[in-house]
Amino acid sequence: MNKIKLGMVGGGSGAFIGGVHRIAARIDDKFELVAGALSSDPTRAHESARHLGIEVQRSYSDFKTMAQQESQRDDGIEAVSIVTPNHMHFPIAKAFLEAGIHVICDKPMTLNLAEAIELKKIADQSNKLFILTHNYSAYPIVRQARQMVQDGLLGQLRLIQVEYVQDWMTDAAEHSGNKQAEWRTDPSRSGAAGCLGDIGTHAFNLARFISDVKLDKVSADLSTFVEGRMLDDNVHALLRFEQGVKGMMWTTQVAPGHENGLKIRVFGSEGGIEWQQENPNHLLYHPHANPTQIITRAGYSFSDQHAYLTRTPAGHPEGYLEGFANLYLETAQVIQKVKQGQAVNSALAEFPLPGTQEGLEGLQFITAMLHSSQHDGQWTQLENAHELT
Ligand SMILES: NC(=O)c1ccc[n+]([C@@H]2O[C@H](COP(=O)([O-])OP(=O)(O)OC[C@H]3O[C@@H](n4cnc5c(N)ncnc54)[C@H](O)[C@@H]3O)[C@@H](O)[C@H]2O)c1
Repeated sequence: MNKIKLGMVGGGSGAFIGGVHRIAARIDDKFELVAGALSSDPTRAHESARHLGIEVQRSYSDFKTMAQQESQRDDGIEAVSIVTPNHMHFPIAKAFLEAGIHVICDKPMTLNLAEAIELKKIADQSNKLFILTHNYSAYPIVRQARQMVQDGLLGQLRLIQVEYVQDWMTDAAEHSGNKQAEWRTDPSRSGAAGCLGDIGTHAFNLARFISDVKLDKVSADLSTFVEGRMLDDNVHALLRFEQGVKGMMWTTQVAPGHENGLKIRVFGSEGGIEWQQENPNHLLYHPHANPTQIITRAGYSFSDQHAYLTRTPAGHPEGYLEGFANLYLETAQVIQKVKQGQAVNSALAEFPLPGTQEGLEGLQFITAMLHSSQHDGQWTQLENAHELT
């Protein structure tokens, strides 16, 4: 199989997630980075491209020129990774989809719900892939957790407790030269949500992914603890899912001592499961009235079905980078199938990859949560979120 020619927008020197995407794309040798518009600052973009070995003529000062010129080359990129702040996701994704190039984009999908609705339409009509990197859904043990729920091991689902707690915004990091904090607290670049959009969307996606139950309505209480900060840095919420499932969410970026504490617990009439991102190779399984089991990635109780998502034997930890790599691996497989003539939707159906539907639900979630919090916790339906904007 020839390597898929990949481009990247964002991810220049000093950026966070672009480097993670590049490592993830390389882990299984399915992609080759050949073009980029790597920074909002053209000088930095070209320096970063040189450092990464991208040819001078394929280092671009802006994404529009890149989309246009790459689509006209015989050896042009087949896919692009979008790793810019949130406000640029929509225009960049639109430009590449319309140029006939597959898109891999980081979350949240867009700046607001109106853009999400529009982007889903554009992607649906494009006959190209749009993959949203909700990376936690691609950890092998998370896939196993979802399978266990689908297989009925938990019985009738009842409760979902999810939290995503960090501490890196406990002080006003946005005023001390932290670039990542600067745009995340600026509504024009982050959107109307702060912590909620940044990590709440991951927590929501994980709960939705493992349970496979739709979130119906929310009652939210958003706070901003750091003085002068323009967006929320703490979120508490009650969640009502379909099928009578109840849940709670806590996401924060101001909890000292917590680095990347994504944790989920799901309980049903026959048992429960627990998983923590910082201990990603282990899943606790509590069959009701029986001893708790620890399921380890690639260990004795690990399902063969997910074996293609692990690369090392049990006991050799895999985590964040490999989770991202799994999204790239599955995306590569879908792209190959499409190249061989399979329709996009049928190729996509073989993998539980997040896409525009998950992106749209993420923006409905943000919109409903903001509305609820602004109305003193009023129960707010996700389905009607478009009427609130
Ligand atoms: N999935 C995850 O676990 C995860 C983790 C971190 C960030 N993210 C998401 O990734 C995105 C980037 O976050 P980050 O922390 O890497 O931000 P960052 O500030 O570290 O990097 C952003 C990069 O985008 C570039 N950029 C901005 N505007 C541009 C433009 N018009 N053209 C080209 N490049 C442009 C910047 O120069 C910079 O290189 C955000 O949407 C964020 O929500 C996801």
